[in-house]
Amino acid sequence: MNVSDFELIAQLLKERSGLSLSKEKAYLLESRLNPVARKWNFAGFDELAQAIRAGRDEALLVEVTEAMTTNESFFFRDQKPFEQFSGMVLPHLLEHRKDKRAIRIWSAACSSGQEPYTLAMLLKENEAKLQGWKIEIVATDLSNQILDKARAGLYSQFEVQRGLPITLLVKYFKQNGERWQIDDAIRKMVTYQKFNLLDDMRPLGRFDVVFCRNVLIYFDPPTKSKILSNVAELMPADGFLYLGGAETVLGTSDRFQVLSGQRGIYTLTGGNQAAARAAG
Ligand SMILES: C[S@@+](CC[C@H](N)C(=O)[O-])C[C@H]1O[C@@H](n2cnc3c(N)ncnc32)[C@H](O)[C@@H]1O
Repeated sequence: MNVSDFELIAQLLKERSGLSLSKEKAYLLESRLNPVARKWNFAGFDELAQAIRAGRDEALLVEVTEAMTTNESFFFRDQKPFEQFSGMVLPHLLEHRKDKRAIRIWSAACSSGQEPYTLAMLLKENEAKLQGWKIEIVATDLSNQILDKARAGLYSQFEVQRGLPITLLVKYFKQNGERWQIDDAIRKMVTYQKFNLLDDMRPLGRFDVVFCRNVLIYFDPPTKSKILSNVAELMPADGFLYLGGAETVLGTSDRFQVLSGQRGIYTLTGGNQAAARAAG
C-alpha cells in the first residue's frame, strides 16, 4: 500500500468513526479491507483505494468503516464492573430514584450485545426489587452489521464460554443447533440503535449509567475528550460512567473523576461523589 492510499483511508476512518490509525497499523488496513475488495469485485487493494478516492459509493464507504472496527466483546467482561453494578450502582439508584422509579442505562459501543445482555441478566436477577420500575437499556454501535448480530442474540459455544456463568447460560439461553439463543425476555429488555459517538448525543436523552468501555482507546486525545464532555452532559450529578479496564480519564477529561476506591467507575467532577460513595 502506498503512503497516499494509507493517508486517504486513515482520514476517512478518522472522520467517519473517530478511529485514529497510526502508520504502524497499516497492515491492519490490508488484512481487514482485502475481504471488502473481494466482495466488491475489485482486482485488489489499489482498485479499492481508487473507488474510495472517487467517494461516489456511500455503501462502500460505510462498509470500509465498519470493517475497520474492532468488535471484540464478551459476557461479564472483566467481571468486577458487573459486580460493582449489582453491589453498588443498582442499590444506589434504587434508593435515589425511588420517586420516579425509572433508570436509564446506555451501552455506548455495545458491539455484538454481550455488554447490554449482561446488564439485562443482572437486572432480571434483581427483578423482585424492580417491580413497578421502568428500566431502559439503550445499546448503540456504529456498525450495522454488529448490531444485527446483537439483535439476533445468537452466540457460538466459544462466545458463551467466555465469561458467562454456567448457571446463567442454563437459565437464559436455549441451544439452537451449534449456537445458543438468548431468552426473548432478556432480548426485549435491550433497545438497539445505530449511533456514532462522534454525533450529537442529546437526542438520546439522559442516562443514570453509561457504559463506554473499550472504544475510546481507538480515538486520539481530542476526540476522547470531546466524547467524554458530551457524555457528561447527559448524566445527572450522581450518574455513573464505566470505562474499560485499561482506560482512564486522566489527562483526557476533567469532567469525570474516578469513584474513590473503585477502578473503572467514574462520577462527574463536582457531582455527588458523597451520595455515590454512600452506596458503596
Ligand atoms: C471493542 S468493542 C467494545 C464492546 C463492549 N463495549 C465491550 O467492552 O466489550 C468496540 C465497539 O465500538 C464500536 N465503535 C467504534 N467506533 C465507534 C463510534 N464512532 N461510534 C460508536 N461505536 C463505535 C465498534 O463498532 C465496536 O463494536
